[in-house]
Amino acid sequence: MQYRPLGKSGIDASAICLGAWAIGGWMWGGQDEEDSIKTIHAAIDAGINIIDTAPMYGMGESERVVGKAIKGRRDKVIIATKCGMRWDLDEPKGRAFFKTDEDAISPDGAKQVYVYNGPESVKYEVDQSLQRLGVDHIDLLQTHWQEETTPIEETAGAIKELIEAGKVRAFGPCNASIDQIERYRSVLGVIATDQEKYSMLDRSIEEDKLPYLAEHDIALLAYSPLANGLLTGKMTADRTFPPNDLRSQRARFTVENRRIVNEALDQIRPFAEYHKVTLAQMVIAWTIAQAGATHALVGARHPQQAIENAAAGSVYLSDDELAQIAMIIDGLEDKVGSSSIPQSGVK
Ligand SMILES: NC(=O)c1ccc[n+]([C@@H]2O[C@H](COP(=O)([O-])OP(=O)(O)OC[C@H]3O[C@@H](n4cnc5c(N)ncnc54)[C@H](OP(=O)(O)O)[C@@H]3O)[C@@H](O)[C@H]2O)c1
Repeated sequence: MQYRPLGKSGIDASAICLGAWAIGGWMWGGQDEEDSIKTIHAAIDAGINIIDTAPMYGMGESERVVGKAIKGRRDKVIIATKCGMRWDLDEPKGRAFFKTDEDAISPDGAKQVYVYNGPESVKYEVDQSLQRLGVDHIDLLQTHWQEETTPIEETAGAIKELIEAGKVRAFGPCNASIDQIERYRSVLGVIATDQEKYSMLDRSIEEDKLPYLAEHDIALLAYSPLANGLLTGKMTADRTFPPNDLRSQRARFTVENRRIVNEALDQIRPFAEYHKVTLAQMVIAWTIAQAGATHALVGARHPQQAIENAAAGSVYLSDDELAQIAMIIDGLEDKVGSSSIPQSGVK
């Protein structure tokens, strides 16, 4: 496993991180708690030392399960969690994001979810997260999404206080523009990480974001590097999803798109065979080999997946291999379309 710094925070994290969204069950068709705990233990045993969760993942469930799994192993794990997605507000605040019933994904009825980064809310959420996780500090706090009703400087001010109080060690935004990152930097000085969607199918940040992060020594936590499992080579035409699994509603997962992606992966297969690794491992290794893409945040819900994904942290691709793979995946993103567009007719 390669370990790389989270920017200038003084924290070194495994290049392969464990993403705990699916472990929350919500939006992923449910999840077995025992499987989740075994997955987290397998990840740690395989050298992964950072787990990314969020209050929003299962509305507290992912953090609760992560907390349970790391009992007795706290010293081995960097806990990254988030704030700023509220499903529990009595009145509208921030930016209305989505209603949970719109996607048939709510475990306990419809809820309006807001993106809200108000200072008092950030502090409240951190206390809630500490309780659910059963820890006395969060290693990396991240604003889950950005919103326009709270000046970023005010959110950053609250985060600064949380760092000074010892409740948080380092900070990084998610889903933020360069301008927004600059505003966080103006208050906090050091931004450890930026969390963004990045994979062979989501490459828009290559043009400006990745060079910016590299220049300013900010680590990238590349989320959904397997495009929610589409880039594993295991997403065959016969795989079905329950209606409360987000993939049942994403145009990316049409049978035709699976065919297009698997055709590209077939061309990558010889490289995987040469390295004696799986396609998923090859895809993850490609991700962390890109300039500026320091860490891949890979979701797993079964121990075997965590072990397989962790091993990708020991795969090194040559410049020649990377150049050949670049040619194979050139234009692939355009062929399969955006990851967030629902299939027509499906709400
Ligand atoms: N900040 C944000 O806004 C944001 C947004 C999205 C994600 N994230 C973070 O990024 C993490 C990863 O993203 P993601 O979960 O969306 O997608 P991902 O990592 O691209 O895909 C994860 C899914 O792929 C399947 N999978 C994983 N490893 C596999 C393997 N070796 N072989 C076959 N299938 C495998 C699993 O689902 P199945 O077994 O069901 O197929 C798994 O849940 C999340 O957990 C979360 O921590 C953050």
